[in-house]
Amino acid sequence: MLFIGVDLGTSATKLLLVNEKGEILNTVTKEYPLIFPQPGWSEQEPSGWWNACLEGIPELMKGFDAQDVAALSVAGQMHGLVVLDENDEVIRPAILWNDGRTFAEVDYLNNTIGKDKLSQWTGNIAFAGFTAPKILWMRNNEPEKFDRIQKIMLPKDYVAYCLTGVHSCDYSDASGMLLLDVEHKAWSPEMLQICGVTEKQMPALFESYDVIGTIKPEVAAKLGLPEGVKVTAGAGDNAAAAVGTGTVGNGACNISLGTSGTIFISSDTFGVDSGNSLHAFAHSDGKFHLMGCMLSAASCNKWFCEDILKTDDYAGEQAQISPESYGRNHVFFLPYLMGERSPINDTNASGTFIGLRMDTSRADMVLAVLEGVCFAIRDSFEVAKGLGIDISRSMICGGGSKSPLWRQMMANVLGIPLDIPQTEQGPGYGAAILAMVGAGLYPDVRTACDALVHVAETVEPEADMKALYQERYDKFRKIYPACKQLFADLAGM
Ligand code: XUL
Repeated sequence: MLFIGVDLGTSATKLLLVNEKGEILNTVTKEYPLIFPQPGWSEQEPSGWWNACLEGIPELMKGFDAQDVAALSVAGQMHGLVVLDENDEVIRPAILWNDGRTFAEVDYLNNTIGKDKLSQWTGNIAFAGFTAPKILWMRNNEPEKFDRIQKIMLPKDYVAYCLTGVHSCDYSDASGMLLLDVEHKAWSPEMLQICGVTEKQMPALFESYDVIGTIKPEVAAKLGLPEGVKVTAGAGDNAAAAVGTGTVGNGACNISLGTSGTIFISSDTFGVDSGNSLHAFAHSDGKFHLMGCMLSAASCNKWFCEDILKTDDYAGEQAQISPESYGRNHVFFLPYLMGERSPINDTNASGTFIGLRMDTSRADMVLAVLEGVCFAIRDSFEVAKGLGIDISRSMICGGGSKSPLWRQMMANVLGIPLDIPQTEQGPGYGAAILAMVGAGLYPDVRTACDALVHVAETVEPEADMKALYQERYDKFRKIYPACKQLFADLAGM
């Protein structure tokens, strides 16, 4: 039997072909553009995601017997608003997770409706990237298009719909809409009413490993797949990455250094932190998790190297950093290039270098960018610790974790060992595991992870560096509060 895991990311869709033993037989990546129609806005054409599958799946299957494919599952970038009309046609480009246009709607939800009520109904408060504020934004700014909405979907659910014709959503991804009563796993009637939508406009809810249907015969023919391939509901990319790195069970932790940066803490029970700075979401193993999400993580390094330094030789840039400057850099960087979500929830926050001097080198600035991302992850890590959660180690995945320097720095900044999984493909591998569970190969996600996910290497924190980075982190955490008002003033310019 073969399984396909799809990771519908922000810059590309990655497809994975996996066999029964969990071995990855082939991978294909199809890139597509991000559209920034205005500063702070971020959109994408859903057709780009679907074309990536239409082109990518036949390529993935080259040299393999497609008749062996039993099931497929999609993991996807979370929170994006996809709206369909009465013919299931897309009404406007999707508004993505890192879009910050909903400032007024977030303010209305958090301050007029009130954070207490939002937290009581959904387990969460409003953040600019969440889906409900985007629906309100459409209602306020594009009323004609809003009136045409027949179905509201998330990015991966659009692809699952194109495959099966079923409008579905899983609980992990639905959690990030601010429309789900996460604890009770049902749409919140209060939130639907506030957004001016009805349950009929929402997709049907499933566990991530539930089979929602099979690939439509005409689509199967286009993809070169047999009829009857099962499609499971799939998961938000972070919940899928957690499965792909074996982050299931109480207290297990995963850090993802992708376009966004997340710290994901799996939990058997539902719980909320008092300030709602961490997201309280459903996990794709049927349980729950807490998550801190920073909007720009590996993308800060990409931006600095590619857009500013005009190079894609990331390793070459990191090789220029003198080891003497680790933990002693005089430059600091705030990684808020798209505003920030966790834990500060501030759309006005912006990227900032501070401490520049005449002797500052290019390498110092590269180092500051890498360090700034680690410190910002530590901010969410501290919130979790403040809840009494004992995080004694974590998995790490995502593009940024491929840099030995960056992952060692993360271990030193957090002061915990970081485990690197044998398989790097977090979300796509997690999706393939969900497909295996859906096909009945494993009775549940936990059993599948125990059998398939293994640690390849552990990065231990270095005692001397841990102490130096503690001092630097203490300085870092003073910078944002000092700039907060200034960011707001500058944004109002
Ligand atoms: C999570 C989040 C991001 C996206 C990235 O809340 O917004 O991690 O899922 O794909």
